[in-house]
Amino acid sequence: MLEISAIDVGYGRSTVLHGLTLGVPGEGITAVLGHNGAGKSTLLRAAAGLLKPKRGSVRLFGEDITRLAPHERVRRGMAYVPQGQQCFPHLTTMENLRLIADGRRDGAAALADALDLFPALVPLAKRRAGLLSGGQRQQLALARALITRPRLLLLDEPTEGIQPSVVAEIEQKIVALGSSIAILLVEQHLRFVLSAAQRYHVLAAGRITASGDADPATETTVRAALAV
Ligand SMILES: Nc1ncnc2c1ncn2[C@@H]1O[C@H](COP(=O)(O)OP(=O)(O)O)[C@@H](O)[C@H]1O
Ligand SMILES: [Mg+2]
Repeated sequence: MLEISAIDVGYGRSTVLHGLTLGVPGEGITAVLGHNGAGKSTLLRAAAGLLKPKRGSVRLFGEDITRLAPHERVRRGMAYVPQGQQCFPHLTTMENLRLIADGRRDGAAALADALDLFPALVPLAKRRAGLLSGGQRQQLALARALITRPRLLLLDEPTEGIQPSVVAEIEQKIVALGSSIAILLVEQHLRFVLSAAQRYHVLAAGRITASGDADPATETTVRAALAV
């Protein structure tokens, strides 16, 4: 579904991703693991269209989208949830959702569907997003992304900075979403990745250094790959 081929991506003159190639199949969860600074967020920004590769190409459903803007990728079925539970802090939960839903033909129905998936947001509808907990803001960020009815969801460290009691709840939602939407998941929590994902890739210094089928039995192998 998503084919990233030999991309060089960076900031200004510095290159962070070096000839990176990665495929995301049309179903299930594909995980990207790696230490801080490895380039995981840079990879998702390039997939979402926020960074343009200096070399290489990005294809979605066979179409070359390398030069397409982020909103044009959203229209083609891609949604991106950045690291850090971003939302508009001065707007309410509902206003944050409406911002995405308004102007979409199926906006009202899509918003209702998103709230069905995240019922915890309903009693928070009138609360300013800046006053929500990290876990609640992450649910809001996921709900916002789902309003665009994506077929591919890019998730950057969705459980980072969330209190441990809520992490399992977010993880369950991601697993449930993965049964109907393809997910490219950046996540540090190795045990969760190996139980939830179908495939994993290890990213180190801007290159894929190991890949394989995700399975809890591979934990030792993956830990060794991460330690290199
Ligand atoms: N906005 C930016 N401007 C310049 N350099 C950046 C920027 N964002 C990230 N980097 C650099 O790119 C490298 C990879 O960062 P990042 O993709 O955020 O890694 P990860 O998500 O794996 O922690 C790091 O060396 C980081 O300092
Ligand atoms: Mg990151």
